[in-house]
Amino acid sequence: MSKKIIIAIDGPAGSGKSTAAKNLARKLGFTYLDTGAMYRAITFLAIQNGIVDDVAAVIEMTKNVSLKLKYENGLTRVFVNNEEVTEQIRSFDVSSKVSEISTIPEVRMEMVKIQKRIGEEENLVAEGRDVTTVVFPDADVKFYITASIDERAKRRLRDFKNSNVDISFDEVKANLEKRDKIDSSREVSPLRKSEDAIEFDNTGLTPEEDLEYLYKKVKEILAIKKQLMLN
Ligand code: DC
Repeated sequence: MSKKIIIAIDGPAGSGKSTAAKNLARKLGFTYLDTGAMYRAITFLAIQNGIVDDVAAVIEMTKNVSLKLKYENGLTRVFVNNEEVTEQIRSFDVSSKVSEISTIPEVRMEMVKIQKRIGEEENLVAEGRDVTTVVFPDADVKFYITASIDERAKRRLRDFKNSNVDISFDEVKANLEKRDKIDSSREVSPLRKSEDAIEFDNTGLTPEEDLEYLYKKVKEILAIKKQLMLN
């Protein structure tokens, strides 16, 4: 089996990296891997089982869970133990707890194992917080996508409104700031820009403009790599 092509994208919540990664995957004909959805699924299950504050129980649960992602028509469908939780994992409750669950090293180890396995089988556009640094350090192309906090809060607020969640701009912004802090200061695999990642600030840009920029960069870098391999 030939080595698969991996495009890895990290960045903070609301940076638009999920939309960008989905669009890029579609344009390249690659599989889209939403690693955040996996941490959200574990968090959802921990809340459902009433063990969200019991680290040992969460670790035990994670080792025994069956987690499946199916990407269909622009949506990552998520199944835990064969039950679909696609909508539930986007709730404000899950969003509020997921960063804490993601600090547990044993949970991360299990998730990274699954993610690496997927990367051995398919050409991927993978996005998350540690895909450029820990999961796919040898990715073919790496991006670090970001945007101003107000722009990110506005985007997340729009997502919540679209799902009929009644929440204020200030609440969303405070939640994002809290998550940014936990995600980038945790001991294991903190969110950081990998030295070899291309930084892209998309404040004020549309998803179409994001895609145009990313696609052009990917094409350029893959062409250079191919050329180097031929020489
Ligand atoms: O991208 P998202 O908002 O769906 O991610 C939800 C949370 O999951 C995020 O706040 C931190 C965690 N996460 C992580 O720790 N590592 C990843 N690779 C992806 C997400």
